[in-house]
Amino acid sequence: MNKVLVLSGPNLNMLGIREPGVYGSLSLKAIEAGMSETAEQLGLELTFYQSNHEGDLIDRIHEAYGTMDGILINPGAFTHYSYAIRDALSSVSLPTVEVHLSNIHKREEFRHHSVIAPVVIGQIAGFGAIGYELGLRALHKQFSEAG
Ligand code: DQA
Repeated sequence: MNKVLVLSGPNLNMLGIREPGVYGSLSLKAIEAGMSETAEQLGLELTFYQSNHEGDLIDRIHEAYGTMDGILINPGAFTHYSYAIRDALSSVSLPTVEVHLSNIHKREEFRHHSVIAPVVIGQIAGFGAIGYELGLRALHKQFSEAG
């Protein structure tokens, strides 16, 4: 069974409370429950981790080396400026999908650029919670193709 680390960055623990018009009304726990159902269908084993701290996220990415087969990450605002998270992802070189609940490209200008995007397989943005399930499907396809 392929193992996927699901990483959530800063302020995503506030989902459901935080700007529901932008991010939806589901809590992170509810989104994770939906992902668990998809993972069961796809035969993936998920490990969830959320942190508001850049270094914690980096430590988790390093720990994924040799223990996980892929990463699904919503880096929150770190998306736009964390070269350290980008370098951590490059260091472990695991297939990674970047997910955003909102369409970052039609929001404030500072959200248009992702420093993470160049080191991932692809980015999914603007589909709310379904984006996480699409991300799992994308990783599953990647694992099948890699054999
Ligand atoms: C986000 C988009 C980011 O710009 C923002 O800082 C977040 C959430 C999203 O899921 O849409 O925290 O990554």
